[in-house]
Amino acid sequence: MSADRLNFALHSGGLTLPDGPIALFGAQIEDASADIDLPRCDVIQTFRPTYETWGRYASRVLTAPEGPYAGAIVTTSRARDLTEARVAQAVKSAPNGLIVVNGAKTDGVEPIIKALKKRYELLGQVSKAHGKCIWFQADSPLTDWELPAMACNPQGDYTAPGVFSADGADPASQALAAALPDKIKGAVGDLGAGWGWLSREILKRDGVKALHAVEAEKTALDCAEANLNDPRVRFHWADATTWMSPQMLDAVVMNPPFHTGRKADPDLGKAFIRSAAKNLAPQGQLWLVANRHLPYEPTLTELFREVKEIGGDNRFKILNAARPSRLRS
Ligand SMILES: C[S@@+](CC[C@H](N)C(=O)[O-])C[C@H]1O[C@@H](n2cnc3c(N)ncnc32)[C@H](O)[C@@H]1O
Repeated sequence: MSADRLNFALHSGGLTLPDGPIALFGAQIEDASADIDLPRCDVIQTFRPTYETWGRYASRVLTAPEGPYAGAIVTTSRARDLTEARVAQAVKSAPNGLIVVNGAKTDGVEPIIKALKKRYELLGQVSKAHGKCIWFQADSPLTDWELPAMACNPQGDYTAPGVFSADGADPASQALAAALPDKIKGAVGDLGAGWGWLSREILKRDGVKALHAVEAEKTALDCAEANLNDPRVRFHWADATTWMSPQMLDAVVMNPPFHTGRKADPDLGKAFIRSAAKNLAPQGQLWLVANRHLPYEPTLTELFREVKEIGGDNRFKILNAARPSRLRS
């Protein structure tokens, strides 16, 4: 766990955090158990559920650094460009400060360290818990690792480092859009809207009067706002599993996530289904796409009176569920 590694660096590896404010970039909730003085830390976090949970531990949780900081601790991400952007942000917001980079091997910490060694003199390094933690002084800028908050992909859509399917439409979402009937109308929800590809397909239907794009990752939602220039859309930076729609929905269309971090987590998709059922009107319908092996049918049949598979292939299945049980009074 990254907190164990950080504690090892602090207690046995010679790492001393400087006095003054510290920024934590990409810290996960487990890191709250590290021996760091949380009251002087700003937690920089854009994923809504993690942002909310951090609010219980840290005095300030922000979506962007305010700085200047005396130091920063960067947790690596699986997406290399996102890790680079975080380190560059850390260097920028803690000029001359102490930068700590902490990550698992499976999150690509080693190539990042290799690249950093060419630019900075490492002040220390530890290996622990299948990962590494290094620290250096931010004595020169890292401008070539800085990335704009969003940029156009080859198809001309705005996406950001680390967001789902940044290079172009996801094949599962494409399969869902192809199977979606034209008749969808009224108030529609897209739970886990990402940068907005599926939402745009839904909006091609004139009968759609309102579209609620619900997304936990703020950087993705900001891209959706840039991509969907349509007055029918309302953007919600929210955890879709607890989100309460401001109106009962006639339809929910979604490609729910099935990973929490690196771990496959079918319970997350099931929580999305429960949220869809809760937010749908009595005659409302759900359309969703899922990897074929994901066991969503028992949850659907528990929560909806009619469930059918309307398409798919050996990789995906497209499921349609109608008439939810009343979960919301
Ligand atoms: C499989 S992607 C689908 C994205 C988009 N709808 C598309 O079709 O390209 C699932 C999305 O759900 C988001 N997500 C994950 N957990 C979430 C949560 N608890 N609440 C809302 N969105 C979440 C992810 O950030 C990701 O953008």
